[in-house]
Amino acid sequence: MSVRALVARWLRFEEAVGIDLGSRAIKVALVENVAGLLRLSHVASAPTPPGSIEGGLVKQPAEVAGVIRTLMASLGKAPTQAITAVSGHNLVVRVLRMPLMRDHQLEQAVQMQAEELVPFPLVDAIIEHTVLRREPNGDPPGMDVAVVVVPHSMTEGRVAALELAGLEPLAVDIEPFARMCSLLEVSTQTQLREEAVALIELGAQSSELTIVEHGRLALTRALTFGGDSLTKVVAAATKLNEVEAELVKQRDAIAIGLDQIEAPECASPAASLAMAPLVDSLVRQISHTVNSFRSQTPNAARSEAAPLDRMLLSGGTALLPGLAALLEERIGVPAEIANLFRDTAVDCPSQVGPALAASGALYSVALGLTLREHVRHGRHEWLVAA
Ligand SMILES: Nc1ncnc2c1ncn2[C@@H]1O[C@H](COP(=O)(O)OP(=O)(O)OP(=O)(O)O)[C@@H](O)[C@H]1O
Ligand SMILES: [Mg+2]
Repeated sequence: MSVRALVARWLRFEEAVGIDLGSRAIKVALVENVAGLLRLSHVASAPTPPGSIEGGLVKQPAEVAGVIRTLMASLGKAPTQAITAVSGHNLVVRVLRMPLMRDHQLEQAVQMQAEELVPFPLVDAIIEHTVLRREPNGDPPGMDVAVVVVPHSMTEGRVAALELAGLEPLAVDIEPFARMCSLLEVSTQTQLREEAVALIELGAQSSELTIVEHGRLALTRALTFGGDSLTKVVAAATKLNEVEAELVKQRDAIAIGLDQIEAPECASPAASLAMAPLVDSLVRQISHTVNSFRSQTPNAARSEAAPLDRMLLSGGTALLPGLAALLEERIGVPAEIANLFRDTAVDCPSQVGPALAASGALYSVALGLTLREHVRHGRHEWLVAA
């Protein structure tokens, strides 16, 4: 064993389990540091009790804690610390260009900016900031600062659920940062860290688009779109109940145009037609956000429009047959579904890998959260898959 690995073992901190509290499914992931190498030791998910997590809020912490306890029991070991995350329309994340200033001045400037960013009193919110880059030699000199405003109501229910499940909440992160970690920072596709990449999370009730340029957050926006709305319109159009409609939705390819809806290979034209307006709205929202990224020129030296190199889709609704191809065609940027267990520089034991290969896109948040402390501490050597 190398001296470095030995030191890593000595310094080993307790692993924290990453818990993604979704409105449809609760996902957990645990990465362990084994002699300086990172190993995914466990991933699991369970359905969220109906109504217990809605609109980005944990409304019934005791119900949620019950599911977390069951998932923890399935881990086969008992981590005591957990990290979870918030997302959605009530979370405000903005990247602001600010003049160069000292830390205490920045604190005050962020407070003032935050007042303009949110429609609710700041006493009800947590305000955080992080300097993404300083450019003392820029023209003009300045720095990019990410300001995050999270209403207390979003964190309280999550913390309560973790505590009721017997876990110590180590941190409540934000989902865009967790995704940046799992999909980019630890990706074996190293070119992603040199490109402008749109991370598009498509969930059950909420969706989110985060653009990362050269590994740095450029912007993140909540999207009004979710898989549950698709199921509802399919159910209404086909007269099926929601369980049956869910199966039709997952099975049928989305028809890209009316000509394809009429083609014989379109299994359920009624379902495709019903989903089309919601998918159109998603395309418009993504295009709008991509255009605002392209037109922003934080650096006066960069006058040309910023290119977007690719879109990486995650979340359960990313698996909707035909969606990635549709987005690629309509937005005009290469799109693929994130394959976490193939493209992450973390060892995935064989019993974990194949079983979850198809659902890797579901774990971007849970994996990013459990990796957070490992990445921050930097006490690891990435295992790069052969
Ligand atoms: N193969 C599939 N095809 C289409 N949709 C799917 C597929 N698998 C899952 N989904 C949809 O993905 C959604 C669940 O995804 P996910 O687990 O990412 O949501 P969540 O994190 O619980 O929700 P949210 O983050 O919005 O609260 C559901 O709407 C489900 O119908
Ligand atoms: Mg989710």
